[in-house]
Amino acid sequence: MTDQADQSRRNFLYVAAGGMGAVAAGAAVVPFVASMMPAADTLAAAKTEFDVGTVEPGQLVVIQWQGKPVFVVHRTEALLKQVDGHDEMLKDPNSEAIPEVQAEWMDTPEKRKYRAIKPEYLIVVASCTHLGCIPLFKPTPGRKDWGDSVPEDWPGGWHCPCHGSLYDISARVIKGSPAPHNLHVMPYKYLSDTKVVIG
Ligand code: FES
Repeated sequence: MTDQADQSRRNFLYVAAGGMGAVAAGAAVVPFVASMMPAADTLAAAKTEFDVGTVEPGQLVVIQWQGKPVFVVHRTEALLKQVDGHDEMLKDPNSEAIPEVQAEWMDTPEKRKYRAIKPEYLIVVASCTHLGCIPLFKPTPGRKDWGDSVPEDWPGGWHCPCHGSLYDISARVIKGSPAPHNLHVMPYKYLSDTKVVIG
């Protein structure tokens, strides 16, 4: 296995998270299963409860909410610093373009920048806004770890392998990407220090 593949594997886990009260995180690493979907109207009302405290620093997990994959990233201090300094590279740095990239909780400049209620935990829909692929997590800045898939001045974030869209570490789309918008956000709130309910 290459260093790049090994790092991706370590930083990227699929985690089973069910509806209210049915949470398995950290211990259960399972494939993302799309075939066990309830009816559409049930899905649209579904909430997902998840303990973000189970995500290791620097790690990304994928959970399900209303049948969609959702990224949960535990951003370290170093990853949070990577949010700054490249607004000129972004199509929509303040997430103003469409309702799907905004949320009621995004009510301060800091929450808009970090796209999170608590900056250290980013929670976004894991579907590229071009044609819906799941982007790959490539958090290390620069090109060394990721080769030609990212530009020389890569700030760290996601690369969509389908048609090359790029997103920064706040899931904001980078200019030149075929994806038109930042990754979507959703309603969620904290029930305790680390437990969130999405939807
Ligand atoms: S689906 Fe992501 S770039 Fe096309």
